[in-house]
This record gives sequence, C-alpha cells and structure tokens, in this order.
Amino acid sequence: MFRGLSRFLRTNPVSVQRRMSHSSLDGKVAIVTASTDGIGLAAAQALGKRGAHVVVSSRRQANVDKAVALLKSQSIRVTGTTCNVGKGEDREKLVQLTVDQCGGIDILVSNAAVNPFFGNILDSTEDVWDKILSVNVKAAFLLTKLVSLLILQCLLGSVERSCCVSLQGLGPYCVSKTALLGLTRALAPELAHSNIRVNCVAPGIIKTRFSSATVIVFFFSCSSCGKTKTLIGEPEEIGGTIAFLCSDDASYITGETVTVTGGMSCRL
Ligand SMILES: NC(=O)c1ccc[n+]([C@@H]2O[C@H](COP(=O)([O-])OP(=O)(O)OC[C@H]3O[C@@H](n4cnc5c(N)ncnc54)[C@H](OP(=O)(O)O)[C@@H]3O)[C@@H](O)[C@H]2O)c1
Repeated sequence: MFRGLSRFLRTNPVSVQRRMSHSSLDGKVAIVTASTDGIGLAAAQALGKRGAHVVVSSRRQANVDKAVALLKSQSIRVTGTTCNVGKGEDREKLVQLTVDQCGGIDILVSNAAVNPFFGNILDSTEDVWDKILSVNVKAAFLLTKLVSLLILQCLLGSVERSCCVSLQGLGPYCVSKTALLGLTRALAPELAHSNIRVNCVAPGIIKTRFSSATVIVFFFSCSSCGKTKTLIGEPEEIGGTIAFLCSDDASYITGETVTVTGGMSCRL
C-alpha cells in the first residue's frame, strides 16, 4: 500500500508542484523591453536562469542579435525581435510574435525609458516633455494594456525623484518616473481581479550606459556628504529583484514600489 502511495506522490502533479521551488519560472514566458543592454538584459538573464522563456527586444537589430547570442550561450530559452516601445506598431508586433512563437505571455517587464534632456527643468521644451512622457509613461501603459489579460507584470520605475539635490538636471525624466508609481497603484487593484500582479522596481544608481551622466552628477554632489562608491549598483542586482517579483515567492505582493538602492536614502 505504501509503495503505491509513494508512486502516487511521485507522479501527482500537485505534489510535484509543491516540491518545485516557488522562485522557479519554468514554463513562463516573459517579455522584457529594452533588454539588449543594462538592467533589461540583466532582468532577461535573471528570468531566463529561473526557467522562463524570455523575449528580448530593442530598437537595433544588431543589439538584439548580440543579446540573443549571449543568452543562448547561457542556455537560456530566448526569442529576439526589434521593438521601439514608442511606436504602436512595434508594440503590437512584439506581443503578436510572443503569442505566435511562445504560446502566450505570463510576465511583462516594461523597462524602456529615454532621457533626451539634462539641465534646469525650466529650460526643458515641449518636445522634451512629449518624448519623455510618450516613451517612459504612455508606452509603458499602452503595452501593459495590450497584454494585461495575459500577463503578470512588473513595471520598472525609478527613485530619481527622491534623490533631490543629487539628481538636479533630470527634472522631466524624474517626473516621468514618478508617474510610474501612480500607474502601478492605479493598475494593481483593477488587474488583481484577473490574477495579475503589478509592481514597480525603483533602482538607485546602476552602472549602465543610461546612467553614466547621472552618476557623474551624483558623485559630484555626494562627495561633500562622504558617500562612497558602493552606492553604485550592478544591473544584476536589479535583475534578481525583478525575477523575485515575477515569481510565486511574491504572490502576495502587488501595487508596491520596491526600492533597490544600496542604502541610498530615499523616500517614495
Ligand atoms: N541605470 C540606472 O542607474 C537607473 C536608475 C533608475 C532607473 N533606471 C531605469 O532602468 C531602465 C533601464 O535603464 P538602463 O540604465 O539599463 O539603460 P541602458 O543600459 O542604457 O539600456 C538601454 C537599453 O534600452 C534600449 N532602448 C533604448 N531606447 C529604447 C526604445 N525607445 N525602445 C526600446 N528599446 C530601447 C537600448 O537598445 P537600442 O539602442 O538597441 O534600442 C538598450 O538595450 C530605464 O527605465 C531607466 O530609467 C535606470
């Protein structure tokens, strides 16, 4: 009788599921936007290493090819395509290709952002605001809307707005990131009914191409208050947090903004 029971436990899918780590993303399909470099690439690696099939994209085919080759070399299941998130037809192509080639979508990491302006906020032009809000906020929402009934989501935000003095010069960009906190709070209760979680990750200063100008400003203003180089994080340190939020380990977390700042003081 016990032999029969143990065979049943070995083959029972529920017991198999319970034995499986809650951090596993086996069988999940994850879209990560702007994922051929920096934090997006690190998020794709973190999700892929936990078993997800990742769909990577960015504007340039050459960057997509390079990222796909890198992820394949790490035994990660990956599909790649070009997608400028600011373009509606590109967003639709990304979603359609994912559904066609991977059979559905479980996770969206909306990571893309631009910052075409550095300076006093009062010097920023209408064009700057149109570009920043269109890519950083509007595109993030429209992509979420496109796939919201299929996915478990994670929006990528930023703590820039709370690092007031150190991030002077990035006014419009910081405003756009603050909008993502509001978007997360607005979407989470609505999508909870569809069993979709929405969270926001707010990194400190992470060593990427995007942040190189920011870091210089940050160091400049921190040198007077004795802060050290350890305040700069690596993309992988954000990728792990994103993978956690997308996993069942975070099943009771939604509508939150998680700051990952290496101790940099911040208040949301
Ligand atoms: N680094 C930081 O310190 C930091 C801090 C807080 C928040 N963040 C946020 O984290 C996210 C990623 O930043 P990052 O530092 O990792 O940037 P990054 O290293 O500069 O990576 C940029 C990636 O985005 C792609 N990309 C740029 N514009 C795009 C667009 N319109 N559509 C699709 N892909 C696009 C680039 O590839 P192509 O050139 O091929 O398009 C590349 O793959 C952003 O939302 C940023 O605001 C970063």
